[in-house]
Amino acid sequence: MSSAEQNLQRLLTGTWISQMLYAAAKLGVADHLAGEPMSAEDLAAAVGVQAEPLYRLLRALASEGVFEEDDHHRFSLTPMADLLRSDVATSKQAMAIMLGEEHHAAWGQIIYSLQTGKPAFDHVYGKPVFGYLAEHPEAARNFDAAMTAVHGSETAQMLAAYDFSDCKTLADIGGGNGSLITMVLQRYPKLKGILYDLDHVVARAKPRLEAASVADRCQVIAGSFFESVPSGADTYLMRHIIHDWDEPRCIQILKHCRAALPAGGKVLLIEAVIPPGNKPSFGKLIDINMLVMPGGKERTAAEYKSLYAAAGLKLSRIVPTAGAMSLIEGVAA
Ligand SMILES: C[S@@+](CC[C@H](N)C(=O)[O-])C[C@H]1O[C@@H](n2cnc3c(N)ncnc32)[C@H](O)[C@@H]1O
Repeated sequence: MSSAEQNLQRLLTGTWISQMLYAAAKLGVADHLAGEPMSAEDLAAAVGVQAEPLYRLLRALASEGVFEEDDHHRFSLTPMADLLRSDVATSKQAMAIMLGEEHHAAWGQIIYSLQTGKPAFDHVYGKPVFGYLAEHPEAARNFDAAMTAVHGSETAQMLAAYDFSDCKTLADIGGGNGSLITMVLQRYPKLKGILYDLDHVVARAKPRLEAASVADRCQVIAGSFFESVPSGADTYLMRHIIHDWDEPRCIQILKHCRAALPAGGKVLLIEAVIPPGNKPSFGKLIDINMLVMPGGKERTAAEYKSLYAAAGLKLSRIVPTAGAMSLIEGVAA
């Protein structure tokens, strides 16, 4: 087989591997292996499936470096499998579950998105993704955790790249489960915060703020950024919000931020700015996920400049981080 054939075959079967990871994550296999190595029989009894197919699943995943089988056919965790545990800080369990369920079903209809330019998710589920989540609490809870699994490591990279010392009140618009604002408030002890998201989302976020002892410095406000954003902040941060939406919706959100912005205030978008050329870029992959799922897109620097301009803002600078994301800073035009 030529290397082109081998490489393409590897890409083509990628979905088999991600669905196997989904199954292992959903069943909580890694949590059971946190102690001693276990046989497929014992694991199967613990997670409620049949031993023989579970053995084959774990053998296949072990061939990819996820789990390890010993000479007695017992399985243990590898560093990758450890990340499928529910109780580790950098857990990817929720991400594996999210990608294996609604995402997988929507991606199956990707041709619909290419034919219409509309989200395949809406075609499959009959409604937009955030409306669906509002009606499906378990999927919504998992989505919040998955956002931290996918984007959690970006917070430290953002804090290393951008100095928030001049900021007095930071509003995290569409801040999800509050993991980002919690880390920023912990880093800057005098900073005040506002966490803003849909009502069912902020209701789940409150316990996290309390557990992290930042609740007394963080107002939690429920609402829709299509109607307004809270006043009272000098910096309006939105991580992976603008990429969810089409141009008219983005301009609507940004205009609400512009209206709330005090003199000298800033808007900060955290997104993957699409680079030119053919180099590998995580942003170019998320871009297709945005097409299929919420109907948004990842954008180039020029596209961010024009979005800001349409909302009465001026792109002041783009600050790269050590990862795939950049901070796109805007000020009043
Ligand atoms: C892609 S997630 C990003 C979450 C978080 N900013 C992060 O980086 O992990 C998009 C967020 O937008 C929120 N959202 C969607 N529609 C909204 C609306 N109309 N008003 C406020 N928040 C909304 C969702 O609940 C979700 O938390």
